[in-house]
Amino acid sequence: MHRLQDKVAIITGAGQGIGQVYAERMGEEGAKVVVAEVNPARGEAVAERLHSRGQDTLAVATDVSSEESVKAMVEAALREYGRIDILVNNAAIFHTIKMKPFEEISLLEWQQLMAVNVTGVFLCCKWVIPVMKKQNRGKVINISSGVVFGGRPFYLHYVTSKAGIIGLTRGLAREVGDWNINVNTITPGPVVTEVPRETVSPEQAKALLAQKCFKRAQVPADLVGALMFLASDESDYITGQLINVDGGLAMH
Ligand SMILES: NC(=O)c1ccc[n+]([C@@H]2O[C@H](COP(=O)([O-])OP(=O)(O)OC[C@H]3O[C@@H](n4cnc5c(N)ncnc54)[C@H](O)[C@@H]3O)[C@@H](O)[C@H]2O)c1
Repeated sequence: MHRLQDKVAIITGAGQGIGQVYAERMGEEGAKVVVAEVNPARGEAVAERLHSRGQDTLAVATDVSSEESVKAMVEAALREYGRIDILVNNAAIFHTIKMKPFEEISLLEWQQLMAVNVTGVFLCCKWVIPVMKKQNRGKVINISSGVVFGGRPFYLHYVTSKAGIIGLTRGLAREVGDWNINVNTITPGPVVTEVPRETVSPEQAKALLAQKCFKRAQVPADLVGALMFLASDESDYITGQLINVDGGLAMH
């Protein structure tokens, strides 16, 4: 018996990077995975890979910053599977961020990032949690970032958005406990994925490594244990919490 056998899991932003590994691994544990990704080609490619391994999956092109789009994604998930057990709010504006002093972040850039990284989480919760309430059960896992513990210069919009996710998690957990719905956060440390990005230079990566207890780069698979735990029945009495997964970089 797999840990997530026949559970229906929506994973936002699962078209690449960490999200696609979440999709693969939750699929391996028996979940029916809804790949809710803004880039349709990438979402389809992940779904095809899962299908080819015999996993049940549905790709739904979704922009989490659009209420219409989120609503349509939830309807598609319900049409296909009839229930939603797990929501992983993973989508974010991240790999495309250009580091810059905060005065140079335009209002539009700020608003666009908040629309995805914070409002997107709100919208997915807004449309998925009523389904979970009817089921009297559900697991919401919000992906924040370890960057909130130490702060980091030159992407203030991102750091602010990820701190917002922790507040959202705590406030929401207090509202939905009566329906046995768990809301928790994972804060990953800096993770190396297949996607190149400018947020960590090679020198910074080396310096970060030196500060960790486990002196190796973090990879998406390092996050899977915490994710599975929070998605499974094993975490039923844990809500409003934060699990920091970073090899001992920050201690929380
Ligand atoms: N990689 C890291 O070092 C790291 C560290 C801490 C936290 N995180 C967080 O983990 C999550 C995944 O990180 P990643 O490295 O895979 O990021 P990434 O930028 O490589 O992938 C993000 C995914 O989200 C999708 N996306 C963007 N906007 C969307 C929208 N409006 N609607 C739906 N999907 C959208 C993208 O197309 C992409 O597939 C993010 O929330 C990120 O903030 C990452």
